[in-house]
Amino acid sequence: MIQQSLYEQVLDYANRANPYPLYAQLRQTPVTRQTDGSYVVSTYREIVSLLHDPRIGSDFRKRSVHDRPPAGLSTNKEQAFKSQVPEVGTEASASNEGSETEVVPSFIGLDPPEHDRIRRQATWPFGPPHKPGRVADMESELICLANRQIDTMKGKSSIDIVEDFAYPIPVTMISKLLGVPPEDQARLHALSEAIIEGIDLDPQKSQEERKRRQEQSGQTFKDLEQYMEALIERHRKHPGSDLLSGLITDYGPDGPMAQPDIVSTASLLLIAGHETTVNLITNGMLTLLRHPDVLERLRREPNLVIRLVEELLRYEPPVQILPNRVALADITIAGTIIQKGSPVILLLASGSRDPARFHDPDKFDPDRRDNMHLGFGCGIHYCYGAPLARLETQIALTELVRRLENPRLAYDQPPYRQSATLRGPRHLIIEIDGVK
Ligand code: HEM
Repeated sequence: MIQQSLYEQVLDYANRANPYPLYAQLRQTPVTRQTDGSYVVSTYREIVSLLHDPRIGSDFRKRSVHDRPPAGLSTNKEQAFKSQVPEVGTEASASNEGSETEVVPSFIGLDPPEHDRIRRQATWPFGPPHKPGRVADMESELICLANRQIDTMKGKSSIDIVEDFAYPIPVTMISKLLGVPPEDQARLHALSEAIIEGIDLDPQKSQEERKRRQEQSGQTFKDLEQYMEALIERHRKHPGSDLLSGLITDYGPDGPMAQPDIVSTASLLLIAGHETTVNLITNGMLTLLRHPDVLERLRREPNLVIRLVEELLRYEPPVQILPNRVALADITIAGTIIQKGSPVILLLASGSRDPARFHDPDKFDPDRRDNMHLGFGCGIHYCYGAPLARLETQIALTELVRRLENPRLAYDQPPYRQSATLRGPRHLIIEIDGVK
């Protein structure tokens, strides 16, 4: 039997429920070289340092070791970050070599100066200082939406937090933000799910199976792009107050966004805002049910939710791994030379449990003060949607614990999704005595 490396064990589905002891072992050597030439980084200091280092890039086209991505998605054996915030892109032009098309990544997969320009263009109509109220204005709507979902649980004795509650919230909010008509939401949800589920990291799956899934996912991605193109056309003709109309008409000093950038940015936002928040809400409820004293406290002290969500992002983060970096030069770090062109894999969730940075890191402590977790990454690619994700999760958890009577886990260990990078339960069945 071939011995798995520690990182391969992290990717192995058998360890999905609790990868944290493996991270602890990995941190004994902050930077390890894998047999395929990639480097795995597991300690807080080294991760933060690399995420601020201009010699580290996110553009897969600069890798010396990489597979060619299917349309719209970058691939690599560690590509499943795409199941979190896919390196979605647009097919810009046919390559010189024949039928292959060149994929221009969305801004999550670009390096400066292109990344910075497109992110600025995408931020102008989204947030402060230009549109300070866009996320805050969603608060009352979010409260209504969470309560509407909870109302559907009346009369039931058991519910699935994933399907019955966590999915509809981010899907509805991101669709609303982008100006997707309500009748299209179910179709877009299905497309995003198919893209995300088409990619998984299970090293036990055959190459053929993985290739087939990637191709399927690429095809679905094309469908999503086509949908976005048509939606953009409609918004160009009849702009509204939504973010997509803003990306088209409301531009700042960088000028208007090019059409392929609008398509790739809108697709990125749709997918990025999806599964990540679903997992944070679900991980949150699971953690609360495993810490009933904290659940009770949240009921009595709703303001605790702000620090509680930050602690969740440290303790059970949806994005465990950033597998999409590349060394743009030789980099010496923690006594290891990362060679130019090599893929670099950053274990964010391991960094957030590093005892060299966090006191008693394996304790879930919502009173933790010094909590610069890596849940939203850091550096120039820090999560664009963090304010929305925070608000959604804060409201979702507050309303759940306020209204569910005597919630308890139906079983100890929920079934997990395949992905090691975007980690969370596929279902979370809980029993309740009723709904207030
Ligand atoms: C980037 C996590 C929700 C949009 C990121 C990154 C992380 C992350 C770790 C860094 C990626 C990297 O460095 O390569 C999360 C988590 C979320 C969440 C845990 C929910 C709990 C959202 C939402 C949106 C969003 C709701 C959209 C409204 C983005 C975008 C980027 C990003 C566009 C790329 C930023 C850039 O490259 O400059 N997210 N995210 N995310 N996120 Fe999120």
